[in-house]
Amino acid sequence: MLIEPNDEAFSSAAIVEPAVAAPESLLASADMPSQHEIVREIADLHAAAEARIAAGEDVPVTMVDFAPYRSSILRHPTKNPRLVDPESIELWSPAYGQRDVALIESDLTLQHAGQPLGERITVQGRLLDSWGRPLRNQLIEIWQANAAGRYIHQRDQHPAPLDPNFTGAGRTVTNDDGEYSFTTIKPGPYPWKNHINAWRPAHIHFSLFGSGFTQRIITQMYFPSDPLFALDPIYNSIRSQRDRDRLIASYDHDLTVPEFSMGYRWDIVVDGPDATWFEPEDEH
Ligand SMILES: [Fe+2]
Repeated sequence: MLIEPNDEAFSSAAIVEPAVAAPESLLASADMPSQHEIVREIADLHAAAEARIAAGEDVPVTMVDFAPYRSSILRHPTKNPRLVDPESIELWSPAYGQRDVALIESDLTLQHAGQPLGERITVQGRLLDSWGRPLRNQLIEIWQANAAGRYIHQRDQHPAPLDPNFTGAGRTVTNDDGEYSFTTIKPGPYPWKNHINAWRPAHIHFSLFGSGFTQRIITQMYFPSDPLFALDPIYNSIRSQRDRDRLIASYDHDLTVPEFSMGYRWDIVVDGPDATWFEPEDEH
């Protein structure tokens, strides 16, 4: 059917429909809960978990169907993990070696012609198993927002500036002592539309490949004393404060590089009772 320019359908469509659909992250929803409601929900769910534990129930460390983290309701696992044979997976999975990762990839401030804006930081730690043994030669990848809290990602369109000198992704391989080290910029907090006025505490995403592809785990590192901790449903989907504390790096003046960067230490434990908490999949 030919639509004339003065046709009502054509003209209203031309006015209402933008050339490019607004990203989902920009669309406000009238049914969004307030921050106060989210905080109340978090407190209620933590209290309910404590009551179940007191009654002798075995409650998981991570509450995957955590209502205040609204999108988790639709995408949390509903079935038990599928067991796979690690050896057959290895035949098909990507592989890497020491020579595939260059030393410079651990410095996120050197990826462009100029220096990125923001507070330079050195993040260093050890990757350990639950017996305290170093995990050598393990691939660690990070990604993060820039100092203004903006990701280079089509879904992140909030009005904070991109930094032409900062991409926000890096990787390294642990040394013989299980140590890793990154030089980067302290990320800013950012809004994320989970509820009205929702802001994520500043964090760096970490991906760790264990000794096999099936051991890949993902988590987030936070910074000490962030005022947004109590407000954040992702951080609080871990029910115990002791486990949440394991995700927070400590300021370490010995890692601070004179005239250059602030130092943060964050050790990661991949197994057993002292393990760092890991997120299931697709976390924000
Ligand atoms: Fe993030």
